Amino acid sequence: MKILIASHNCHKIQEIRDIFDLPGVEWVSTADIPDVGEVEEDGETFEANALKKATELARATGLWALADDSGLEVTALGNAPGVFSARYAGEPCNHARNNTKLLSDFKGHADRSARFRCVVALSDPAGHAETVSGSCPGHIIEQLRGTEGFGYDPLFVPEGYDTTFAEMGSAQKNQLSHRGRALARAREKWGAMIASNAAAFPV
Ligand code: IMP
Repeated sequence: MKILIASHNCHKIQEIRDIFDLPGVEWVSTADIPDVGEVEEDGETFEANALKKATELARATGLWALADDSGLEVTALGNAPGVFSARYAGEPCNHARNNTKLLSDFKGHADRSARFRCVVALSDPAGHAETVSGSCPGHIIEQLRGTEGFGYDPLFVPEGYDTTFAEMGSAQKNQLSHRGRALARAREKWGAMIASNAAAFPV
């Protein structure tokens, strides 16, 4: 069975391939299919964006499609940046500007709790889809620490640890992270169906 991963991010694609190491599954990504356009992430929730990406790509290609959407929710900021995590500081969108804005918006707040959240959606070729989610609670520190990872990793310390995600290796981060947890649930929920080479979700 061929499954399309809705991502150009080679780290994410490899993580998905590693977790779903199932016989008979051929993984392709949107980077391998140049004719498929980008799906705009304009939903109000991670779930809406993941479902939109998976179902639109499945219908456009006739393949099963797997998509995720993720971001950071900060309690003191009313769960911002949330679905706006990638573009929190506006154009030009980059991680350095987003981290600077997060630290500036945080000034004066005592509650530093936050969580990363991820929703993964799988759609069959007809556009019937299901989702799973994962989250990782933690807190935001006052200065960037570490050089690994991406995004808000240098500011986020997961619960029960002293190091930021950017100070951990990817193997440790993937075990704890919102995306790692969502993908592990996805493997539990859909692994057998994928391995059986199903044509569609059971109705
Ligand atoms: P996406 O869903 O992977 O496109 O992530 C959207 C945005 O959320 C990213 O651009 C980052 O700002 C943030 N984000 C999501 N996952 C992570 C993570 O594991 N570490 C740091 N930032 C993340």
